[in-house]
Amino acid sequence: MNPEGGKEAERLFSSVVKSISDVKNTEVIFCPPFVYLDKLKKVYLGQSHTSEIKKVGLGAQNLFFEDSGAYTGEISGEMLYDIGVRYVIVGHSERRNPPFSSLGGAGGESNLEINKKMKSALKARLRPILCVGEKERDENHKYLNFVKTQIVECLDGIPKDSMREVIIAYEPVWAIGKGAVPANPLEFQEMNIFIKKILSDKFGAKNISKVRIIYGGSVDAKNAEEFLKIGQADGFLVGRASLDAKKFEKIIKTTESE
Ligand code: PGA
Repeated sequence: MNPEGGKEAERLFSSVVKSISDVKNTEVIFCPPFVYLDKLKKVYLGQSHTSEIKKVGLGAQNLFFEDSGAYTGEISGEMLYDIGVRYVIVGHSERRNPPFSSLGGAGGESNLEINKKMKSALKARLRPILCVGEKERDENHKYLNFVKTQIVECLDGIPKDSMREVIIAYEPVWAIGKGAVPANPLEFQEMNIFIKKILSDKFGAKNISKVRIIYGGSVDAKNAEEFLKIGQADGFLVGRASLDAKKFEKIIKTTESE
């Protein structure tokens, strides 16, 4: 539920878009709450230099898994696509936990529910940003299996040739939010290789060559470079630092120069 208020969302968005007019190789996707999406699209279209920036896109933070019907209060992928949204975050760790409930009634969205959302997003021509990540690390490396299960179950039944649309955000839950410490770039590097191996075993190396694996969890202007260089991250899912135009711009520029 950030930023607080449409005016602040517009201000932040305009400021970042203006400052990245020379960015050529980095794609920047803004994923605000639903109610700001249409507003931001209009701000973007109204900017004189928009034609120079081809790499700015809009994403949503969630979608419902049914395409249409009597589901009061829900928003479908088609509805998002219709207003110009092209990306959607699916299975963010905050949604995988209470207070959100799942299909089975347990706390948080399950892999099954997230899998339905993945299918629904792809059907609506949205590029899903699938979030995975363990809650904690253990010496016996059980966390690797935890992440593997998330990936395998959330991508179950996804056609091979849809995989080029999929972005995987590895976001260890312990690294997200106020007071958390980011992962070490080497920890990300290990996960990056591990995730590629899971995907390659499931879909074939050729079909996953375009899948981007990005890092999320306390990303800032200082640690971004190492995640790119050492961790070989394809990008970032930025939370708090994206709410400060200057900090967010720095992360974008670091990504551009790598
Ligand atoms: P953070 O959030 O960058 O503030 O840790 C990441 C996220 O919410 O996915």
